[in-house]
Amino acid sequence: GDAAGQALPVESRPFTSYGSALHIALPQAPRAGQLLTLLIDYEAGEGPGVCWLSPEQTAGKQKPYMYTQGQAVLNRSFFPCFDTPSAKFTYSATVKVPEGFTAVMSAMSWEKQKDNTFVFKMSQPIPSYLIALVVGDIVSADVGPRSRVWAEPCLIEAAKKEYDGVIEEFLVVGEKLFGPYVWGRYDILFMPPSFPFGGMENPCLTFVTPCLLAGDRSLVDVIIHEISHSWFGNLVTNATWGEFWLNEGFTMYAQRRISTEVYGLPYTCLEAATGRALLRQHMDATGEDHPLNKLRVVIEPGFFLFLGVNPDDTYNETPYEKGYCFVSYLAHLVGNQSKFDAFLQAYVNRFKFQSITADDTLEFFLEYFPELKEKGVDSIPGFEFDRWLNTPGWPPYLPDLSPGQQLMKPADELAELWAADGLNMEAIEAVDITGWRTYQLVYFLDQVLQKSPLPEGNVKRLSKMYPKISKAQNAELRLRWCQIVLKNNLEAEFSKVKDFLHSQGKQKYTLPLYRAMWGGSETTRALAMETFSATAPQLHVNVQNYVKKILGLGGAE
Ligand code: BES
Ligand code: ZN
Repeated sequence: GDAAGQALPVESRPFTSYGSALHIALPQAPRAGQLLTLLIDYEAGEGPGVCWLSPEQTAGKQKPYMYTQGQAVLNRSFFPCFDTPSAKFTYSATVKVPEGFTAVMSAMSWEKQKDNTFVFKMSQPIPSYLIALVVGDIVSADVGPRSRVWAEPCLIEAAKKEYDGVIEEFLVVGEKLFGPYVWGRYDILFMPPSFPFGGMENPCLTFVTPCLLAGDRSLVDVIIHEISHSWFGNLVTNATWGEFWLNEGFTMYAQRRISTEVYGLPYTCLEAATGRALLRQHMDATGEDHPLNKLRVVIEPGFFLFLGVNPDDTYNETPYEKGYCFVSYLAHLVGNQSKFDAFLQAYVNRFKFQSITADDTLEFFLEYFPELKEKGVDSIPGFEFDRWLNTPGWPPYLPDLSPGQQLMKPADELAELWAADGLNMEAIEAVDITGWRTYQLVYFLDQVLQKSPLPEGNVKRLSKMYPKISKAQNAELRLRWCQIVLKNNLEAEFSKVKDFLHSQGKQKYTLPLYRAMWGGSETTRALAMETFSATAPQLHVNVQNYVKKILGLGGAE
């Protein structure tokens, strides 16, 4: 309008502890529905959303690397935006990088022009947290008709081998269950070792930790999880971070539906049992009544500045595994898997490209199943929808995981044997674990951890007996082994904890180990301090702060 090309007064105002507000004074108040174009010239650099890595922090150690991580509220330090999952928009970007570097983004189209300039377009509306950029020395290899893997050159062979020919099946099963895949490509980018998450569902281009390169596809559940976000989270999005379970609980359910179709019910139940163990550990550590152990948590900034909770500080197992239990409970109320699958597909179709609240979800559920609404299933004593959402604690309903018994029982029994006072070596030696799947070993180790500390000497023997476990390269096994080493104070193997923490920086691996070290002896506390001072510069700044908090160094958790 009249103001075209006019510079406007701008001002930065306090907002929360995790960001400030950009105020732009318009010449006149806009009319409702009026289209406004603002051109904002800005520089981004420091800030938690944009991570600058030195060559030493990459796998190849030759060239620097930059990546962004938006979820939950970090992208406000990458570009000015309405940084809330309640607003969706399309975007395009032109990215010029130095010679020898490649840029990739979470976008549907990608084009390299002259002068190392890359042009990206995302033509479907997405929330701000799903915009992501990587610039580095990265290359790609095809692994399916609409999928390729991206990685540093030294990892690309391993990356291709890990997932060649397997991705498409997950997408096809996902489409069959939940409806069309609307994002065009599904590519996977292997990040540097310090990437703080197992996976991040950036549309068209999932970011994953290089820990997934186990050599045997055993950690593919993370990929299935991120693919499931293509419907739950990226299409139907939680309108506020206080209802993060809508993203993650439905995604866990979708992940396990795909896994059931591809790998069968017993294996999927086994994987779900390891998830339940994580929820148990989390609730034991925080206390069941902790306010974060509700599906709906209060994180609005509130009336007074700085009183609000940073949504990133609310990250825990509850939205995932309690959320999974609630969705499983809804399925249980329906009582028929194909009817519930049809509901999920209708739900995606009803709310795609929108941001919604749990009330929208539950209202739609009751409308979709009027006979359940009539029966008043939302207010069955002990299982009220309101209780699921607003009461902290252990889920009132747990899905039946007994189809996994054939895989879990041998692991349960073996853990019993190892927890005994006088070890029955004959019985132990009679169990052959060489053929066990990774998640069977994970499940076994979770049982051992739960029973720890074991009687003196048992863990040392266990370590010797199963080098497959104690010398494992698989990150999920390494995490559990390190937890067992710490809980049993097995000093001879403390170096493994240190090595593991030096090798990667995933938050879900890093924090439990620092908590265990800090809760242990003088020696483990010293180990924690020493390891942290050596690795801190490699960690994502959020993870650094959480570790500082654990170690009493004044970070913000
Ligand atoms: N969206 C999450 C990762 C995330 C959550 C990043 C909150 C920032 C804030 C992702 O989909 C996820 O859940 N990853 C899991 C995978 C697992 C549940 C299979 C992870 O990283 O461990
Ligand atoms: Zn997720």
